[in-house]
Amino acid sequence: MTSQPIQPAFRERVAPATERKVELTIDGRKVAVPEGQTILDACRALAIDTPTLCYADNLTPVNACRVCVVELEGARTLVPACSRKCEPGAVVKTDSERVRLSRKLVLELLASSVDLSTTPSLDP
Ligand code: FES
Repeated sequence: MTSQPIQPAFRERVAPATERKVELTIDGRKVAVPEGQTILDACRALAIDTPTLCYADNLTPVNACRVCVVELEGARTLVPACSRKCEPGAVVKTDSERVRLSRKLVLELLASSVDLSTTPSLDP
């Protein structure tokens, strides 16, 4: 008995989604992450430090603080890295002037209503 080779289309259908990779570029560096991961996950895979406040690994992203925003080529607005899924061919900037200004504004607004002296790791 000879075995039939598995057709690529069938292999695609039965492969678990976690085995599929999505390739994107972050700050000029290419990275491939499992499908379904966020831009924050991809940043962490590249050891790019992306700030977060309302995100935790064991919580559903709520997009509340917007301190994790990054610039996504082709997107009109900055996108939250903690919840935005990686898209094939995406080009992301995590340290542009626009990103830095937005993060600074978020922290300034936060500092205007919350005493940040108890969080020494925050330095707006
Ligand atoms: S960490 Fe708060 S919106 Fe992403």
